[in-house]
Amino acid sequence: MMYKIAVLEGDGIGPEIIPVAVSVVTKATELTGVTLEFERYPAGDRALEELGEALPRETLEAVGTADATLKGPVGETAKDVIVRLRQVYDLYVNLRPAKTMPGVKALASNVDVVIVRENTEDLYKGYEFELPGAAIALKVVTEVASMRIAEFAFNLAERRRKHVTIVHKGNVLPVTDGLFARCAHRSSSNHPDVAYRDMYVDAAAMAIVRNPESFDVILTSNLYGDILSDELAQVVGGLGVAPAANIGDERGLFEPVHGSAPDIAGRDIANPYATVLSAAMMLDWLGDGKNDERLSKASMLVEKSAVIALERGVKTPDLGGHHRTSQISKELEAIIDELWTRGRD
Ligand code: NAI
Ligand code: MG
Repeated sequence: MMYKIAVLEGDGIGPEIIPVAVSVVTKATELTGVTLEFERYPAGDRALEELGEALPRETLEAVGTADATLKGPVGETAKDVIVRLRQVYDLYVNLRPAKTMPGVKALASNVDVVIVRENTEDLYKGYEFELPGAAIALKVVTEVASMRIAEFAFNLAERRRKHVTIVHKGNVLPVTDGLFARCAHRSSSNHPDVAYRDMYVDAAAMAIVRNPESFDVILTSNLYGDILSDELAQVVGGLGVAPAANIGDERGLFEPVHGSAPDIAGRDIANPYATVLSAAMMLDWLGDGKNDERLSKASMLVEKSAVIALERGVKTPDLGGHHRTSQISKELEAIIDELWTRGRD
């Protein structure tokens, strides 16, 4: 069985970090006995410049037909690429785990949180208008989208520490955020063994810094989730180690939380861990969906190799290390070999 992975390298540091993830995933899947075929497609600022479109039709179709997509960051065309892909393919869940890791300096020592962010509507629907002397954006919240994201979050909490924090601003926006919160409450009644609390987004921004260990699953809308996930990433060590998944009922697209980092592009110092961990999430999701244990095993190998490498000090300068981006894949591959041999002893 062969699986097709669409690869969008993107802009800036994308072409430096994506090859690290691809080679590490290739190493792990070769060992577990499954073949992935990676096909690269253009997307982003460079695609716009060279091909006249940030998201060429060929790329859009490839994401639709691939078994999964691995995406690097794009630059100023983010809205035309990632926001569009989320909407076209109804990738309604944005999953952003944040976990403290050995060897990575963090603000707190025992954090293990997942942000479940609604990924298709809210202000990111993109309905913006100009009037003379004014600008208007529409915040769209539907019952269907709010219910399905809430169900996803509560189901996830069932498999974790059984706690959901519903983040909104229902006091100021009782109609839109009010609907989001009411749907979450309705969903909670389907999961009586999961505890939940409501938290206004400003209070959540504070609590994430002050007491991040108190969170398990955070359920929130699109814009708040975008902002809080960068904050939470910083609490556990920075954007360089923050992975993300965009998931729908049939498709999944995996990418780091961070952007194209034009300030450090081309210098071989970008941190590839966020992308490597996103690729591990991809293997895990694909393993579940295809019922193929070899993919789940490969996911564990990739994730473990990253954790062990960080513990051993294999780090780029943003984490206080001296490694170059291009050196990291060899280190991770060697650890995967170690893990594999040990597992077979
Ligand atoms: P950014 O995440 O690219 O950079 C913020 C800071 O973090 C910079 O100092 C950067 O050097 C650093 N950083 C980010 N990733 C890093 C890594 N892997 N290793 C080491 N340092 C890293 O955010 P910024 O500067 O706001 O946006 C830059 C561009 O990225 C913009 O054009 C934006 O539209 C785009 N963007 C794209 C996203 C996507 O494709 N999903 C998401 C966020 C931003
Ligand atoms: Mg963001």
